[in-house]
Amino acid sequence: MANKEHTDTERMEAIVSLCKRKGFIFQSAEIYGGLNGCWDYGPLGADLKRNLKDYWWRKNVQERDDILGMDGSILTHQAVLTASGHVGGFSDPMVDCRVCKKRYRADTIEETPICEAKAQLPKGEDKSCELTEPKDFNLMFQTKMGASADDNDPNAVAYLRPETAQTIFVQFKNVLDSNRIKLPFGIAQIGKAFRNEITPRNFTFRSREFEQMEIEYFCRPEDGLRLTDEWLEKRLAFYDEIGLDKNKLHVLDIPDGERAHYSEKTYDIEYDFPFGQQELEGVAYRGAYDLTKHHEASGKTQEYFDEQTKEKFIPHVVEPSAGCDRTVLALICEAYDEEDLTKEGGKKDIRTVMRFKPAIAPIKVAVLPLLKNKPELVAKAKEVKNLLQPYMTVYYDETAAIGRRYRRQDEVGTPFCVAIDFETLGEEADGELKDTVTIRHRDSMEQERVKIDDLLGWLLPRIH
Ligand code: GAP
Repeated sequence: MANKEHTDTERMEAIVSLCKRKGFIFQSAEIYGGLNGCWDYGPLGADLKRNLKDYWWRKNVQERDDILGMDGSILTHQAVLTASGHVGGFSDPMVDCRVCKKRYRADTIEETPICEAKAQLPKGEDKSCELTEPKDFNLMFQTKMGASADDNDPNAVAYLRPETAQTIFVQFKNVLDSNRIKLPFGIAQIGKAFRNEITPRNFTFRSREFEQMEIEYFCRPEDGLRLTDEWLEKRLAFYDEIGLDKNKLHVLDIPDGERAHYSEKTYDIEYDFPFGQQELEGVAYRGAYDLTKHHEASGKTQEYFDEQTKEKFIPHVVEPSAGCDRTVLALICEAYDEEDLTKEGGKKDIRTVMRFKPAIAPIKVAVLPLLKNKPELVAKAKEVKNLLQPYMTVYYDETAAIGRRYRRQDEVGTPFCVAIDFETLGEEADGELKDTVTIRHRDSMEQERVKIDDLLGWLLPRIH
């Protein structure tokens, strides 16, 4: 059941705090008071995001014969965004409070907000904002190109792209002509997009700078609706594979009148974040709208010639458009767990554990010598680290008691810890366990012994 209303503020606060403490996500320019709506990924966040992007690319480009990748420029010719309709119509309705000057998106406020400037008014007095009439606020970031750009020269205007999609559409012909590919086929892209959101909020969820993972899947008109449904299923399977709970994913079939005018079918995939059920991805059947617009505005044909039927037509397109940062946030929210390990009569013991799927986890394995003051243990541990490092992200840690080091790795979601102990050196268990290591599993906390010679072969299939 959809739980649009359900929010869990405390859980979200704990997640935001862990993200900063452990180096997943920081506020941009925090030391200068922060840049609203912009976020920086720290060492663990950068690896987590890269793992997600690599996995998406692997599934949607590398492992498919019918999808090609591209990487377009962020700075976008204004003609592109005029033709696509963004210059004229990519806006949200905005209202301002005449008293406190705070700005709101008119379509997201349910009742008149409390005015910050009137907060001190005596009880019983009207503390509401005094809102202006809604006006359209274009969400695109405009910039000027060229050192000698004349401020009034409209040709010097460029935009930071508000979606990666348009860079795909305007390269449709080049990709088609430079590759021997036939319909149906897709072009995939991962990259930055920028929107001057009126009210960025919910951590990275609504940002002004973010990344998208988009596919434009071109097809014959009669295949569009069927492929839209197929793509929806593929995208749901993807979220399951990366570890999002199926029960927290919801599909909204956007009704007539709420879809973009050119779309015959649009599904939103939403996820139960701690701050409510919100959109992760849209799967939209956009018909021939975009290519037709560029065909007309550029005067360059965007038609496809079908060699079998000898027809010429502008292909239709199905677009699965996912937010990368939103998926990272969903992965973090999904992974966060607090496990109560308190023993009867004992001190409160809460284990914080990020239960990332190994393929997505930022660190795959931690290598831990049992003691740091035993040179043989340290040397062996470094040998193991060097063995694994070319194949995966390894974290080496020799400080603190082994139990504490396990807990540290739990908190950042490392699925496996490898401990080098006296058995490894052959000094215990009658030397029987020489050259074996202890593998400790994050989720179950169970331990098993594996030979160093078998370690790489043991780990590799478990982390992909
Ligand atoms: N090309 C279609 C398109 O851009 P969209 O629904 O506006 O469609 C697609 O955006 C996805 O991009 C969204 O489902 C969301 O995951 C992500 N996205 C959009 N605006 C965002 C923002 N301000 N911050 C973070 N992610 C955003």
